[in-house]
Amino acid sequence: MDSVLSFANISKEYRSTFRRKSFVALDGFSLDVKRGEIFGFLGPNGAGKTTAIHIALGLMFASSGRGTMLGNPFGHARTRRRVGFLAENVSFYHRPAEKLIRFYGELNGVSDPILRQKVKDLMEVLDLKDVGNKPVAKFSRGMLQKVGLAQALVNDPELLILDEPTSALDPSARVTVREILLRTKAAGKTVFLSSHLLSEIELICDRIGIIHRGKLVRLGTVPELLESKDEFEIFARGVKDALPGGRIASDGIVRFVVPAAEQRRWIEEIWNKGGQVISVAPVKRSLEDVFLAMTSTENPAGDHEDKQEAAG
Ligand SMILES: Nc1ncnc2c1ncn2[C@@H]1O[C@H](COP(=O)(O)OP(=O)(O)OP(=O)(O)O)[C@@H](O)[C@H]1O
Ligand SMILES: [Mg+2]
Repeated sequence: MDSVLSFANISKEYRSTFRRKSFVALDGFSLDVKRGEIFGFLGPNGAGKTTAIHIALGLMFASSGRGTMLGNPFGHARTRRRVGFLAENVSFYHRPAEKLIRFYGELNGVSDPILRQKVKDLMEVLDLKDVGNKPVAKFSRGMLQKVGLAQALVNDPELLILDEPTSALDPSARVTVREILLRTKAAGKTVFLSSHLLSEIELICDRIGIIHRGKLVRLGTVPELLESKDEFEIFARGVKDALPGGRIASDGIVRFVVPAAEQRRWIEEIWNKGGQVISVAPVKRSLEDVFLAMTSTENPAGDHEDKQEAAG
């Protein structure tokens, strides 16, 4: 697998100043992000997402474990130039927006005329054109987040790491960001995206990883996560009164939810009663259901039927 971001058994223990107390934020965390995918990194508040991202970028060290970003060990300075990063809480020098974006481009080795064009394009697409000369100190939270995104994209990065990039954005700006991310992927780049906006994650991500209390507890493609292996839904016609256990789905159509192992028996039963099977498919759960099941307090160590998949 062509992995652009790899965490191998990373642990991170935060220690208090006097080293009396410590807190384990990452606990044997392993994950491989593949080239060209949009990866959704989910987890409750305090699960360890920002910690993992900061370790990957070399902003802090892991207590143990190893990792690579674009093939080089975490913290490799020159690799950082090929990565775009938007922090969870953006804070900038108090300079005009456009100058600031240029500054970050230069910092990452981009120069004119490419830089000039890139800055112009980003100001346009992120709707910052009219405020380019204004100091960011006067910017709203959403405007700051847009400047942050422009700064992350200005070096045309191979890997884009975004820590809650749309939390302050209005709906139309969110759509814009979604389009940018899909275009980034279409250009063969990789996106690693942490967010609490599950509907957005479901829309654009190829794979999703859920972290809970410092451990990866679930990993898979969106269909793998949402389709239940245990239950199937059968839609049938012509059995409304003949077969109990179904619910009227619409005019004359009845929906049965049945255990996977009993699927065949139910289909035969419907036929025997003179009914007609319209469709059979795995029950689809919402990402919210999956998220809540994996991160509930009753699931302290992330123990679950799916744990092996997360580890594999
Ligand atoms: N500098 C620090 N010193 C001590 N503990 C810290 C420090 N930074 C983070 N933590 C703790 O580590 C845990 C993980 O924090 P982290 O910021 O990685 O969570 P997160 O998944 O990004 O959460 P959120 O969704 O709220 O952004 C939390 O319990 C947090 O309190
Ligand atoms: Mg965070």
